[in-house]
Amino acid sequence: MKQYQMLINAADRTGHIRPELYGHFSEHLGRCIYQGIYVGEDSPIPNIHGIRRDVIEAFREIRMPVLRWPGGCFADEYHWRDGIGEKASRKRMVNTNWGGTVEDNSFGTHEFMELCELVGCKPYLAGNVGSGTVQELAEWIEYITFDGDSPLANERRRNGREKPWKLPYLGIGNEAWGCGGNMRPEHYVDVYRRYQSFCKNFSGNTLYRVACGPSADDYHWTETMMQELKPWHTNAIALHFYTVPDWNNKGLAAEFDDAQYETLLAAAGYMDTLLTRHTEIMNRYDPDNRIGLIVDEWGTWYDVEPDTNPGFLYQQNTMRDAIVAALTLNIFNRHSERVVMANLAQAVNVLQALLLTEGAKMIKTPTYHVFDLYKAHQDGDAVYCFSENDRSEKGVPVLSHSASLKDGRLTLTVANCTLRDSAEICCTVAGFDAKTVTARILTNEAHAHNTFEEPEQVTIQPHTASIENGVLRCTLPPCSVTELTLA
Ligand code: AHR
Repeated sequence: MKQYQMLINAADRTGHIRPELYGHFSEHLGRCIYQGIYVGEDSPIPNIHGIRRDVIEAFREIRMPVLRWPGGCFADEYHWRDGIGEKASRKRMVNTNWGGTVEDNSFGTHEFMELCELVGCKPYLAGNVGSGTVQELAEWIEYITFDGDSPLANERRRNGREKPWKLPYLGIGNEAWGCGGNMRPEHYVDVYRRYQSFCKNFSGNTLYRVACGPSADDYHWTETMMQELKPWHTNAIALHFYTVPDWNNKGLAAEFDDAQYETLLAAAGYMDTLLTRHTEIMNRYDPDNRIGLIVDEWGTWYDVEPDTNPGFLYQQNTMRDAIVAALTLNIFNRHSERVVMANLAQAVNVLQALLLTEGAKMIKTPTYHVFDLYKAHQDGDAVYCFSENDRSEKGVPVLSHSASLKDGRLTLTVANCTLRDSAEICCTVAGFDAKTVTARILTNEAHAHNTFEEPEQVTIQPHTASIENGVLRCTLPPCSVTELTLA
């Protein structure tokens, strides 16, 4: 077994890890909202006002900090007025992006805001720019946040909500370069500037306004946004990047060979290059970091599971996805100076989901468990962390890691990305007087996953590690993600 020397310098703080880096995304797509999160009040599945209790509990357990809704592509066809008032009389619409299903709008603004309250997370709305109007978006904000006496605030009261909600995050358009309107950045940036002028702060609410950012490596998009947007126009721009080595041949989540495993991990590692390059552009225009970078859609995207609706994007989730999640979250931690939020796509039953449901049953995926292992990083200070490393031919590192400090505890998360080789880490810890270490691990063969019949194939287990004279030692099995907590 090879030993890797590591060094953590807890005195060298490299950025603050906002909790929102561990954010999530829920869209009216397939079974994410309906069946996944919302089953309706009359359902035999335990619920609070129609919202699944098991899902609320699971989201709370990983301290979900923020949830984005209602899309995605759906957001640019969503008209918020269709989703308020008496459920029986809510307007129906066809979800043209996702399977052509009929959307009955029974999950709307009030239901989403209640979900966030129950979970204890912040709401992040994606406003309709593609097919909506400035007036529609401005009125949505007033409806949600205005405390005074106005027709919209009174309508909210008649619909059962006396006090306004806080609305911290507002996206102004989604993928304006694609399903959100196929715009050029030169055009979108003006559309954005117009929309944001009418997105007002009511009753002590302060909106954090998010402009649509680039798709993957569209650096021209970022350049244009940064040229034309000042901090008084926007708080952040949002990048989208999915881990898909070949869009024409995505493969199934749980069927892959060693080469495909490597290719996928290399593709996930590309997030580091993207963040570095977009940050370089942003640094030129905004050296003081006043405009944040958000990754409000990321994750793996495979072919749908056999015999499921192709428009529902339902996929399994294996240890391979857990490694992708660990690698990506370590990258986010390292870029936490510029990257202020990230949202995994998506929370339930869609793409790299946290949770899968089937009727009353709910399982936690390996990806969910990674968010559990990493939750101590939320609101911590990222600290310098180095390791000796090897890389495969495709550039995949043996070790992916990050460390943070919070409330007198030092957390190191480290993934062993190899398929067959254990690795021993021997980590010198400077700037922190570590007396104890506890470890938790997620490990299994790369194809291992949880099913409704066997929901505990991949779960977190206690692990062993030692700390002596400031040197931390731990053996990391192949295909594993470990959390080490030093106190
Ligand atoms: O997450 C699925 C879809 O991917 C979203 O609706 C869209 O924004 C992106 O293309």
